[in-house]
Amino acid sequence: MISQELRNKFLDFFKKKGHVIVPSSSLLPDDPSVLLTTAGMQQFKPYYTGDADPLTSIHGTLGKPLGSKNVASIQKSFRTSDINEVGDESHLTFFEMLGNFSFGGYFKKEAIEYAYEFIVKELGLKIDYVSVFGGDRDVPEDKESAEIWKSLGIKEKDIHKAGREDNFWGPTGNQGPCGPTTEIYVKGVEIWNIVFNEHFQHSNKKLEKLSIPGVDTGMGLERLAMVVQGKSTIFETDLFASLIEKINVEDVRVGRILADHLRGAVFLIADGVRPSNVEAGYILRRLLRRAIRLAKLHKLDVKLYEMLGEEVIKFYKNYYLELAEHKKEIIEVLLLEQEKFGSALERGLKEFEKMAQHKVIGGRESFYLYQSYGFPFELLEEMAREKGVNFSKEEFEKELAKHQEISRAGVEKKFGGHGLIMDTGELKAGNEQELQKVTRLHTATHLLNQALHDILGDEIEQRGSDITPERTRFDFKFNRKVAAEELKKIEEIVNKKIKEDLPITITKMKLEDALKSGARAFFKLKYPPEVNVYSIGDYSKELCGGPHVQRTGEIGRFKITKEESSSAGVRRIRAVVEP
Ligand code: GLY
Repeated sequence: MISQELRNKFLDFFKKKGHVIVPSSSLLPDDPSVLLTTAGMQQFKPYYTGDADPLTSIHGTLGKPLGSKNVASIQKSFRTSDINEVGDESHLTFFEMLGNFSFGGYFKKEAIEYAYEFIVKELGLKIDYVSVFGGDRDVPEDKESAEIWKSLGIKEKDIHKAGREDNFWGPTGNQGPCGPTTEIYVKGVEIWNIVFNEHFQHSNKKLEKLSIPGVDTGMGLERLAMVVQGKSTIFETDLFASLIEKINVEDVRVGRILADHLRGAVFLIADGVRPSNVEAGYILRRLLRRAIRLAKLHKLDVKLYEMLGEEVIKFYKNYYLELAEHKKEIIEVLLLEQEKFGSALERGLKEFEKMAQHKVIGGRESFYLYQSYGFPFELLEEMAREKGVNFSKEEFEKELAKHQEISRAGVEKKFGGHGLIMDTGELKAGNEQELQKVTRLHTATHLLNQALHDILGDEIEQRGSDITPERTRFDFKFNRKVAAEELKKIEEIVNKKIKEDLPITITKMKLEDALKSGARAFFKLKYPPEVNVYSIGDYSKELCGGPHVQRTGEIGRFKITKEESSSAGVRRIRAVVEP
């Protein structure tokens, strides 16, 4: 059974059981405490806690309420925790996760019975054994799940008990729903994790019982395909076979790493991630640069990158339409990164070889390779390991921190020391050049905020913003998709204000006076008693820490690149500025 049949079978099965099928959310999650989407339940977090209602709250991507307390999805997921294991038989960074979820619709009995029926009856597989939560100081043993398994004919000896480490899941990010799990093993492989979200873990690790318990399950498509297709590794399944064949490298491990990393990179790029030195962009850069070095080391075809990108897109594009939609950008990003790193790589490797002769690479040396030749830290670590060279992460980090301190001081001097820059995570710039881009995007974001109010009305409310040198991302409360004509009008207004070359002025005011004057404030931030109000002509007025351009004419052309849902009732706009 090929992977597409497995996807269909899973979704059809749960549809028949009364579930609404929900599309995968983006790999870039709304939750600011997690970099990437790691699980299917992430987009449903507010439904477990009661912050959103499946029957009345508008779901972002569906554009209407979920319509059921029971849903199923195939979620694009990315986990960095296993990145160094990739290359063995079963670890991956990117994977697809099949999951069924319930927010007060059903609980243990149905969840376990559905899983049993799907695995045993639908797929004809034999369950080797299952595991259940054995209990600890805070949470009691899950006797109920064990009883349900017994009622389905699983023998007592095949019901293993384990503790927090193995049979308790979540939360994602620094807080959220979590709970005991029961896992299903087939042919010795853990294929399905069923979580009973009975608790909410607060950021101080304290557990609180959720008023309505929920179900959250996760089954990796790659592992399922492996057992269904009778293969001994995930890389022999149809999900990887054509990729591995294209790579055609003798070293099996290298072939797997390239296949995993390129596949993951393509999906990240399709969801809007671009290589950079921070956050998700850094993860993408790590994948790409590691792959570039390995390809070079094994003397692979220089066109490999492009070929693999094309292959991934070809294989997945019928199910993940975004890959077809963004094909051109995906290939461009792959090639650009190859060009950037490829040319520095050769010289950087020579420097590395020289340093490696001394069997020790110190913090200053490793930072030099990072800074001048663009080697991600983890790649240096890997290279040092291969060569048996002594290498200290701490020393590298010390050096990095020193340099960041220097550039922060430079930025503060320039912008009067009153900056949200680099400490709120709202703006991200690593050097002077990036800072200029971020500054232009920042002023453009203020214009966007006002233009959104002009066109969509005052019910919209800022929910967050995130600015990198590549783009701005603006989240706001709004209950429906923004129509294409509306986006066009918003874009036009911003460009008009840019053309007017309005001056930006700063006024220091008492917080309450500023709020009274009608300046916009972002409710999530705590403001000091005295604040800076930034006005753009008399068009926009916001409480802000800067930095901003002096006149809007410096911004360049403003372009909205994407409008999408961010979470229930919250929309997200991405935009860029061009010179
Ligand atoms: N949320 C369940 C899992 O990822 O296994």
